[in-house]
Amino acid sequence: MRTQVGIVGAGPAGLLLSHVLHQHGIESIILEDRTREYCENRIRAGVLEHGTVKMINDLSLGERMMREGLIHNGIYFRIYGRDYHFNFPELTGGKYITVYSQHELVKDLIAARLAFGGQILFEAKDVTVHDPETSAPSIRFQHDGKSQKIECDFIAGCDGFHGVCRPSVPAGVLQVFEHVYQFAWLGILAQAAPSCDELIYSRSSRGFALLSMRTPEISRLYLQCRPDEDINEWPDERIWEELQLRVKSNDAWTLKEGPVLQKGVTGMRSFVIEPMQYGRLFLLGDAAHIVPPTGAKGLNLAAGDVHFLGKALEAFYRTGRSDLLDGYSQSCLGRVWKAQRFSWWMTSMLHRFDKEDFLAKLHLADLQFLVTSRGAMQALAENYVGLPFE
Ligand code: FAD
Ligand code: DHB
Repeated sequence: MRTQVGIVGAGPAGLLLSHVLHQHGIESIILEDRTREYCENRIRAGVLEHGTVKMINDLSLGERMMREGLIHNGIYFRIYGRDYHFNFPELTGGKYITVYSQHELVKDLIAARLAFGGQILFEAKDVTVHDPETSAPSIRFQHDGKSQKIECDFIAGCDGFHGVCRPSVPAGVLQVFEHVYQFAWLGILAQAAPSCDELIYSRSSRGFALLSMRTPEISRLYLQCRPDEDINEWPDERIWEELQLRVKSNDAWTLKEGPVLQKGVTGMRSFVIEPMQYGRLFLLGDAAHIVPPTGAKGLNLAAGDVHFLGKALEAFYRTGRSDLLDGYSQSCLGRVWKAQRFSWWMTSMLHRFDKEDFLAKLHLADLQFLVTSRGAMQALAENYVGLPFE
């Protein structure tokens, strides 16, 4: 098989990239380890930045997202029971966020890619990357019980944090920057109408909680927990009891409960590799960087990487110029580090630390300053709705 760009991974990064390339008349093939059903039902992110929504609409892929997605003009911070509202359009000059499940977006992207005649090979096993330092890289894999090979001009590693592309880069080429947190999130999906029309980030003496949603009937809720938390010790009643305590309001307000449809514990880390490329292998999304979930930047950062690589490949195939490809890492990393800073800051301010030490006190002071300063609220809003791609 031969194509122009071989893409490993059918998550948001790989699927969006194949659409962007198609728009520019560039061929690609996506190799995905899992089944289509698995990819379409993996519950993950839910908040789309202003620029991510624009990118999806510019690709004419946003019809269902615009119909079913929920436009949110702000978020609440609930600090020890007292609410502070961030009005995004007012603080950012008209911008807002859209709440639409990552797995619904993945369904839309897969369906549209296949409808346009695109190739996605699901259940491609034992994927290996070859010769990315040459002008003729290739990808080998097992599919339909046969060993297969794709010869291509470029490889896009969109295979997430645990994928094979990043580890295929020779030792010493990539520099790793990492921070691990002392807490994790216990997340549930519940058959319960959202208790508020916008997201509530709540800091309480018992730790952090987040009330989010997926649809007018389904809520997504999170609790700060230990990284080694055993989910079996959290029967549904205990989860609701703890959520009730952590999101208690000083005003008349109630948390709506309902059957728990799914639950799990997600660890937290900040991780960046530099550079995000090796020869003709480019790394995008979680394959290159991970943020802690507070601030909902993961999926949106993947979209930013796609924007830069799409532009660079378009310029290469149209004019032969390679300067944008050479500058891919640098273009992405400016935005990546700002999102890292924002996610770390949101996480530090809103979570309860084991020890009430100097840093924990500073994080609390940061939070108290934030909710009393219009300038600080504006800075949060600007980052939350998403920094521009350029
Ligand atoms: P992924 O979505 O991970 O896609 C990578 C794809 O590559 C997958 O389909 C995988 O099956 C495939 N793959 C992996 N290895 C191989 C291989 N060897 N060969 C072929 N294919 C392979 N972000 C938020 O903003 N809010 C959240 O609430 C949130 N919750 C999350 C919960 C979990 C459990 C995780 C893991 C992430 C969460 N994120 C969240 C982050 C967000 O979902 C990711 O940032 C986003 O999915 C990144 O997209 P991606 O395409 O880079 O990677
Ligand atoms: C969601 C996840 C987040 O990490 C966040 O900051 C906001 C919302 C969510 O899953 O809906």
